[in-house]
Amino acid sequence: MNEQKAVAIIDSGVGGLTVAKEIMRQLPREKILYFGDNDRCPYGSRPADEIRTFSLQMIEYLYQYPVKALVIACNTAAAVVLEEVKELSSIPVLGVIEPGARAAISTSRTRRIGIIGTETTIRTSSYERALRRLNPNLYVSQLACPEFVPLVEKRLLHTPEARRIVEKTLAPLRYEELDTLILGCTHYPLLSSLIQEALGDEITLISSAEETARELSTLFSLDDLHACEQSSAPQHLFFTSGNKQIFQEIGEEWLDRELHVEQKDLAQAMQNK
Ligand code: DGL
Repeated sequence: MNEQKAVAIIDSGVGGLTVAKEIMRQLPREKILYFGDNDRCPYGSRPADEIRTFSLQMIEYLYQYPVKALVIACNTAAAVVLEEVKELSSIPVLGVIEPGARAAISTSRTRRIGIIGTETTIRTSSYERALRRLNPNLYVSQLACPEFVPLVEKRLLHTPEARRIVEKTLAPLRYEELDTLILGCTHYPLLSSLIQEALGDEITLISSAEETARELSTLFSLDDLHACEQSSAPQHLFFTSGNKQIFQEIGEEWLDRELHVEQKDLAQAMQNK
C-alpha cells in the first residue's frame, strides 16, 4: 500500500490532461503531479534531441517529488524517450503508444486502421510498429497533422478556423475506408467532435487515455501500489512552463473541476537545483 506518492504525468502542454482525466476517473484515489511544457509546445516538429532534452527536464523536475509511477502522456515524447526513461527509472514508466495500439486492434473489425499524430510520431512509425507487433495483417494509413496542437494550445477549438483546418487536413483519409482511427497525439481528443464530423460516424476514434489508465491500474494491482482509501480527495498539482491562466482555463474546462496550477520556468528550475 502506498499513501502519499503521486502519479507523475508529462506532456508538451495540455494534451496529457486527456490521460490525467481518465486516470482520475479510473483511479480516483491517486494523487496526480502533472507537468505541461506549454512554453515550448509544440514538440511534434522539433528535432529528436530537443524533444529528448525537454522531456528529461520535466521528468527530472517531477522526480524531485515522491512519485510512484510516470506516465509519458505525450506520444511524441514517448516515441523518442520511452525506452531510455524506462531504463533510467526505478519506478514503473508507461507510454501511450502501446495502449493506443492495443485499443485500436481490439476495436477494428475490418483491420483498416488510420493513425494521426505529430510529425515526429508519424515519422518514427511508432504506432505502425506497435500495431504490427500485435497483428501483422493490417492496412495502416498514417497522417501527420501539425496544425492541430496549436488549435488546442491557443484556445481556438471552438472556432470556424478549427473546423476548416481539421476538415482540410483529414481530407486524404476520407477515401481510405478506415473503420478505426487512432488519435495518436494526446491533444487530439480535445478536437474529437471536429475530427468525427470531418470523417463521419462510421469511423471509431481511439484515444490512448482509457487503455493507459487501465494499464496503470493493472500495474498498481500487481505491485500493490494503489493509494489507500483517504478521508479527503487527493490534492492534484499541475505545473506549466507557459501561461498559468491559459493552462488553468483549458484544464478546468476539460477536467470539469478547479485546478491548482503553478507556473514553473523549467530551464531556470533545473539550474537552481
Ligand atoms: N500531446 C503530444 C503528443 O501526444 C505532443 C504535441 C506536440 O507538442 O506537438 O504527441
